[in-house]
Amino acid sequence: MLAYPILLLLAVVGTGGTSTKSSPHASRNADSGVLGLSIDAEINLSRLSNVVAADIARAAHFKSHGQGKKRESRHRGKRQSVAISATNSAVSFTSRVKFGDPATEYTLLIDSGSSNTFVGLKKEYSATNSSHATGKTVSVTYGSGKFSGPEYTDRVDLGNNLVITTQRIAGVNHSSGFDGSFDGILGIGPTDLTQGTVSGSSEEIPTILDNLFAQKTIGAKVIGMSLPPFPSNTPGSITFGGADSSKYKGELAYTNLTKTDPAKDYWGIDQSIRYGDSTILKLTSGIVDSGSTMILLAPDAFNAYKQATGATLDDKTKLLKLPKDQYSKLQPLKFTIGGVDYTLNADAQLFPCSLNKALGGDNDSIYLVVNNLGENSVDGLSFINGYSFMERFYTVYDAANSKIGLATTEYTDSEGNCKA
Ligand SMILES: *[C@@H]1O[C@H](CO)[C@@H](O)[C@H](O)[C@H]1NC(C)=O
Ligand SMILES: *[C@@H]1O[C@H](CO)[C@@H](O)[C@H](O)[C@H]1NC(C)=O
Ligand SMILES: *[C@@H]1O[C@H](CO)[C@@H](O)[C@H](O)[C@H]1NC(C)=O
Ligand SMILES: *[C@@H]1O[C@H](CO)[C@@H](O)[C@H](O)[C@H]1NC(C)=O
Ligand SMILES: *[C@@H]1O[C@H](CO)[C@@H](O)[C@H](O)[C@H]1NC(C)=O
Repeated sequence: MLAYPILLLLAVVGTGGTSTKSSPHASRNADSGVLGLSIDAEINLSRLSNVVAADIARAAHFKSHGQGKKRESRHRGKRQSVAISATNSAVSFTSRVKFGDPATEYTLLIDSGSSNTFVGLKKEYSATNSSHATGKTVSVTYGSGKFSGPEYTDRVDLGNNLVITTQRIAGVNHSSGFDGSFDGILGIGPTDLTQGTVSGSSEEIPTILDNLFAQKTIGAKVIGMSLPPFPSNTPGSITFGGADSSKYKGELAYTNLTKTDPAKDYWGIDQSIRYGDSTILKLTSGIVDSGSTMILLAPDAFNAYKQATGATLDDKTKLLKLPKDQYSKLQPLKFTIGGVDYTLNADAQLFPCSLNKALGGDNDSIYLVVNNLGENSVDGLSFINGYSFMERFYTVYDAANSKIGLATTEYTDSEGNCKA
């Protein structure tokens, strides 16, 4: 399926020019050495200690979005795809992307829950001779943050010859609520989400994916994401134009995007969940979201999980926590999507123990990545499979055919999170 399985590997991850400095307290690298990391992990301590609040704020935004939108038209093209590299910073995935001519490099969060692309948070957007102000203003709210700023068309270079000469972007001149660990966001969600983000217009803004396809740089409106668990010597990779079969095992299984509001505005799917042999979530809709860290479940499902695991809600971290010696009792958590089971083993249900301190936790406990969607759970949004889920399963978004593909990877059953 893949034309160009290109890996930038550590060269991109380790350059450090625009990256956040890793705090000795937060660095998995310093704390663990479990997997012999050769790169400097990038972690923003403040994001980590607020991981629940940040995910919940996003969920509140997803819940409130929900306006019905028209569907984009379908296209088919020859298969041609190109990958870029992404860094797992423990709570988010970022890539280095160049804007302008001469080019300036920025660190962008890869977000499947939004679709605009903008820069200027940590590093200011510098207009160059390829930047053209459109005279319009772009404003987007993310739940955990929001920004506004003038719209430009500019040259965007994702690397590996993935270049868009006239991408509509925004240069931030006002923002709040972002954690300061990235310069902007590269939105890979459905185009519909851009509607209403440009002043005085209800038009949609063609996304990076739309433009790469329109200019025939890629052969299909498809994105494949490989997000190896943190920490990993292998960087994540985002393939535009197809799925990279070297990044998953066996076959991809596809499921149609859900038709249920508000999940259908995102990478929305229908799924049910079992913990061990008990069903904790009946078949319902929700989303896969690379911009959320955890797996959030509707209150009933969350409470059933909490009870079945025996975990307690920790006041300090707001995370479910278990004494370390209870690890062996954790049962598999099985997500059934399109009739196929995707199983998170015990290890996959944990935050890496080396992050305990950064999370505000203690050394003798394990902290679980499953949390409560709470009042943000509504009909049509009963779960968010954040990147704790995506770290274990290769994920494909096929925008043209409105479907999501999933497959197991070499990391699906890995057990590095809390091994000494
Ligand atoms: C922009 O400036 C660079 C050198 O600074 C030059 O190489 C390039 O051709 C210019 N591009 C445009 C679109 O004028
Ligand atoms: C931000 O940009 C908008 C145009 O999009 C402009 O109207 C506004 O004055 C700018 N604000 C600041 C503080 O520069
Ligand atoms: C982490 O986020 C905080 C809060 O936004 C910010 O002030 C800080 O500069 C960030 N740290 C790093 C290392 O980027
Ligand atoms: C998925 O969508 C396609 C195209 O709309 C349709 O033909 C197919 O029956 C759907 N599959 C399921 C399982 O609903
Ligand atoms: C917790 O673990 C860290 C890193 O492994 C270690 O530096 C620290 O001393 C431990 N703290 C306690 C209270 O055991």
